[in-house]
Amino acid sequence: MNTDFLVIGSGIAGLTYALKTATACPDKIITILTKAQSDETNTKYAQGGVAGVMDLDTDSFEKHIEDTLIAGDGLCNRAIVELVVREGVERINEIISWGASFDKDKEGDYSLGKEGGHSESRILHHKDVTGYEMERTLLAAIKSKPNIKMITHCFVIDIITQHHLGFLVTKSTPDIECFGVYVLNRQTNKIEKIISKITLIATGGNGQAYRTTTNPAIATGDGVAMIYRAKGRIENMEFIQFHPTALYEPGVSGQSFLITEAVRGDGGILRNNKGEAFMERYDDRKDLAPRDIVARAIDNEMKINGTEHMYLDCRHMDVEKFIHHFPNIYEKCLSIGIDVSKQMIPIAPAAHYSCGGIKTDDWGRSSINKLYACGECASTGLHGANRLASNSLLEAMVFAHRCCIDSVSKINSIEFNTAIPDWNAAGTTAPKEMILITQSVKELQLLMSDYVGIVRTNVRLERAMRRLDLLHVETEILYGKTEISPQLCEVRNLITVGYLITKEAQLRHESRGLHYNTDYPYKSDLLQNIVL
Ligand code: FAD
Ligand code: SIN
Repeated sequence: MNTDFLVIGSGIAGLTYALKTATACPDKIITILTKAQSDETNTKYAQGGVAGVMDLDTDSFEKHIEDTLIAGDGLCNRAIVELVVREGVERINEIISWGASFDKDKEGDYSLGKEGGHSESRILHHKDVTGYEMERTLLAAIKSKPNIKMITHCFVIDIITQHHLGFLVTKSTPDIECFGVYVLNRQTNKIEKIISKITLIATGGNGQAYRTTTNPAIATGDGVAMIYRAKGRIENMEFIQFHPTALYEPGVSGQSFLITEAVRGDGGILRNNKGEAFMERYDDRKDLAPRDIVARAIDNEMKINGTEHMYLDCRHMDVEKFIHHFPNIYEKCLSIGIDVSKQMIPIAPAAHYSCGGIKTDDWGRSSINKLYACGECASTGLHGANRLASNSLLEAMVFAHRCCIDSVSKINSIEFNTAIPDWNAAGTTAPKEMILITQSVKELQLLMSDYVGIVRTNVRLERAMRRLDLLHVETEILYGKTEISPQLCEVRNLITVGYLITKEAQLRHESRGLHYNTDYPYKSDLLQNIVL
């Protein structure tokens, strides 16, 4: 199959890019691949909203820029922060024009929420299901484009480069090129090649590398792992953001339900098991300090008090207002026997967001020719060492637009590569023990949570690396002799992502933002993006 533009991922990044590109090039074919159903994405679960300077009377671009830089703890690229904040408003207005609805107050002005690290209320939201509303809007909009083709349940295994034509490709090979991808089509169960002129990776995050995560099962870091295998540049992987307030539900495995930071923005207070509002001991901004600080404070209180969770106290809040803004959270809590007006919500931190990823420039270009990346899998320079809340949806829209402009300007000068060989599955047989794969995933999640979590030490990182080595060797042997399945590819990708997080954590000899290593308790002047 040939396609002009190939988009991997159907979250906010992939869909925005596809929609804009289809509009700009009505005579070209845009193909979207997604490994699950079309809306099963991190995007769908976004709660708090999208940050944007919508009211210049009360807010300013400068304040949003400053808040982003402070949260990023010295590692943001200022030029990128400025362009995302300034161009973001246009992108927000664009998705509104496509049909997204954000809550308004009685006067008809946007009802703007507040979250940690923001000096002003600037979060547009649709109740507590903002991501669902944005995903719904984009999926509806792409239906009106006859030149967009969506293929669901199609698992991308690897991008195709000169390596597949028999050339040696290393990190120092100049001009590595992307010619398309190999996919496992789950409808036919066959490995197929899709040849493209331009490819966009929009595969989202990697929260599934940890035992507890707010991310759905699709978030296995596939894009980052395949670009690393293809010798593309990856950076800042050590900066894994743990959301401070995932609902604590003992015995429930898989995705944790999020209690949005906007609840604290509306007055929710974190308390320990003694009922103390402990955040005042950690930061002047208390419950609305940036996420790295709040998550570490909770982690510390849990360790001091020997408990598995803390509490979010909403009992003093106006319950009608709570239900109006957070109907989904209210219902979820009720469903497990918690009436938020009478009981505190048990919460614990959970892996939430990957700040690093595929290194891209200001047009979303990766280090591999004809290959763009945007959304959570990309490292644009916006987030630095810690992402400011609700900046992710904004970044995805801004860079989808920029990837579109740059790639559309190039498309007519690119030809399809017609020399790509078929996938070679020689020597592989049907898997005999799928349990080996599920067991490796569990081991990986456990070791990443125990040794490469919120608080790290050199010894823990060394332990993690030794265990990752073993998992890597075992999985590569399995991969070499077993028929490809999504589960096998995902465990392989998760191990690669685990390795990248751990390796970059080992290389960072300081504590900064989300990377906290007790062997380096103070910030140094080591301001660098470590690129692997
Ligand atoms: P995703 O939306 O995750 O989409 C990834 C796509 O890639 C999926 O379609 C998936 O199937 C596809 N894919 C992946 N691998 C493959 C493969 N191998 N083959 C084929 N397809 C593949 N951010 C904010 O700014 N504001 C918020 O309020 C907010 N709340 C959040 C709440 C939760 C619970 C979570 C989990 C995240 C939240 N975030 C929030 C972060 C934000 O939602 C994500 O960073 C963002 O939606 C990522 O969008 P994306 O398009 O990059 O990826
Ligand atoms: C939340 O709603 O708390 C999540 C916001 C985000 O991750 O940006």
